[in-house]
Amino acid sequence: MTTSELIRPIPKENLWEYRERFHQEGYLKITSLVPAELIAKITRDVHALIDRFLVRRDVTIEETGNTPRYLGNVVRDHIVDHSPFLKDLYFDNGLNDYLQQITGSSVHHCPYEPEQILISKQEKAGDTHGWHWGDYSYALIWIIEAPEMEAGGLLQCIPNTIWDKKHPNINAHLVNNLIRTYDHRSGDVYFLKTDTTLHRTTPLEREATRIMLRMAYADDTTLNKVIDHSTMEKAFE
Ligand SMILES: [Fe+2]
Repeated sequence: MTTSELIRPIPKENLWEYRERFHQEGYLKITSLVPAELIAKITRDVHALIDRFLVRRDVTIEETGNTPRYLGNVVRDHIVDHSPFLKDLYFDNGLNDYLQQITGSSVHHCPYEPEQILISKQEKAGDTHGWHWGDYSYALIWIIEAPEMEAGGLLQCIPNTIWDKKHPNINAHLVNNLIRTYDHRSGDVYFLKTDTTLHRTTPLEREATRIMLRMAYADDTTLNKVIDHSTMEKAFE
């Protein structure tokens, strides 16, 4: 059995509803399809990686209108080199096929290695992953640990928006669109349309822990697009 086969099949009668909601909201929660044992195994590996490899970042990113990244990360190479289980899960083509049922079109592994898989940990008051878009089309997010709702760290999304790296005009997007806010519990899993959904996590309002594992994917368009990786490079320099 491959790792992705641990995830329950999407019920046929729900497929169109899932696909439609994903395209409309740029977000789809799939927690009900993921068995608790799989989450528990991922959680164990993520905690072990954080204990060894977490590096703190405190930067602002010009291409997203100087929005902040105040958080810690475990980068792709540390994850792939030290967790065979997470490596197998990410590189399991069965998971791409699974996600393709939701998108209705091809889902590829991210061609830019540093973006493929990443752990983020927010813990101090004020920690946030500020407003941004992704260079690649999709992200599968595993919430390993979530603070209680009143502590912040909520996901906010504005779907169907366009990232102009030279003129990100974040505030104009906020003014012109409705913002959806999502609360998550530990063990939640969601799929995000990252390149056209402006999104952020709201700042932690006090000391609390939000840990997530993000797996990134490309569609046919972003797979071969020449992408300026300065955002990612700045976040990790
Ligand atoms: Fe993101």
